[in-house]
Amino acid sequence: MMNILVIGAGGREHALAWKLKQSTCVGRLYCAPGNPGIASVAECVDIPMGDLDGLYQFARTHKIDLTVVGPEIPLVNGIVDLFEAGGLTIFGPSKAASALEGSKIFAKHFMKRNAIPTAAYETFDRAHEADARAYILTHPVPVVLKADGLAAGKGAVVCHSTGEALRVVQDFFTGNVLGDAGSSIVVEEFMAGEEASVFAFTDGTQYVLLEPAQDHKQIFDGDKGKNTGGMGAYAPAPIVTSQLLERIKNEIIEPTLAGMRSEGRPYRGCLYAGIMITADGPKVVEFNCRLGDPETQVVLPLIDGDLAEILYACSTRNAGSLTMRSHDAAAVCVVITSGGYPDLYESGQPIHGLERIVPEDGVVVFHAGTKTDGGKCVTAGGRVLGVTAVGYGHELRETIASAYAAVKKITFDGAYYRSDIGVKGLRLH
Ligand code: AMP
Ligand code: GLY
Repeated sequence: MMNILVIGAGGREHALAWKLKQSTCVGRLYCAPGNPGIASVAECVDIPMGDLDGLYQFARTHKIDLTVVGPEIPLVNGIVDLFEAGGLTIFGPSKAASALEGSKIFAKHFMKRNAIPTAAYETFDRAHEADARAYILTHPVPVVLKADGLAAGKGAVVCHSTGEALRVVQDFFTGNVLGDAGSSIVVEEFMAGEEASVFAFTDGTQYVLLEPAQDHKQIFDGDKGKNTGGMGAYAPAPIVTSQLLERIKNEIIEPTLAGMRSEGRPYRGCLYAGIMITADGPKVVEFNCRLGDPETQVVLPLIDGDLAEILYACSTRNAGSLTMRSHDAAAVCVVITSGGYPDLYESGQPIHGLERIVPEDGVVVFHAGTKTDGGKCVTAGGRVLGVTAVGYGHELRETIASAYAAVKKITFDGAYYRSDIGVKGLRLH
């Protein structure tokens, strides 16, 4: 039996703990710091994600056999290096390998060196703002500007006019919005197409793929309005046909793993490839060094296998022993947010109706931003809940309907959700 520690506090980590709980080889299951939803499947421990030493000490004293890291920040800060130096097994990339997400400039240069398809680009630092402005003045729009460092989803802006691009460059370089994350930037070509998220669990050499998913990043139906952390997801995504997946493996996943090995930064953990399906084939929009949120909530329920075994094999260089099987099912996650998100929103609203969701509905509610206040579950974040329907043997259309039937049972003041999650997938059916 393995004792497992999950690190994180959102919907992704609730889905991880929920799936790990189903594993027959898991003994004690902990989550730091967790949330009220996670508390129903794991023991929550009050250690913040930034306290790497505290997490390490906890793992040692509680005989943790495998630590699974949800968010990118501890990875980019070197939690894997710290745990491995102390002889602990942990699922995630090292600090050097996490640069694929931690530095957009590293990722772009890496892709160029390794002939991995991505948007054409230039990079500039704060000392060369005039060059950046001159470049933008000659570049067609739309153009995409990206801060080099981690920016919690606020680091990429698709600019539809030169004026907007010049303003964004100024914002990034002055550091008012993103601090030092924007002191170096990428200016890149706009790629037209539809996006998909592809996840590989890898030990650095061998890998297994999860079902491809699609996120819905914009706040409003029809992909309109501001970017968010993700308003919902569904999987499998029919736009990623088996032929396309072969290309993604051959042109993106395998050269990335090989390149990272040959550059002395072997990549273990979950490689998240955000793909744009363009007229010229699949191209990388971005790499992330972790699972996606809310994609995790739909890809994990589709795994017909033991997640603890899979993650342990990847963390101990044994992924070659794995085969990945998927349930014949569709999964749809609709995120309910606080009113006003992604701008200012209120917290502390009591959430009603959670008890009306019963297992027979084939629905699980993953908590993202909730807390317990006086024995009641209240809102405590922008993205509050991920209402997830898993339709075994069902079509996507029916699964979307059961997700929304459950969403309608849950209410709180200001609750908002998109009403078209998964609809993209129906067009191609
Ligand atoms: P990123 O933070 O790199 O994932 O970018 C956030 C979002 O901006 C992506 O999910 C895309 O919708 C959009 N985006 C980023 N780069 C490009 C690009 N080169 N062309 C078109 N859209 C992009
Ligand atoms: N769903 C987007 C992300 O996790 O970055």
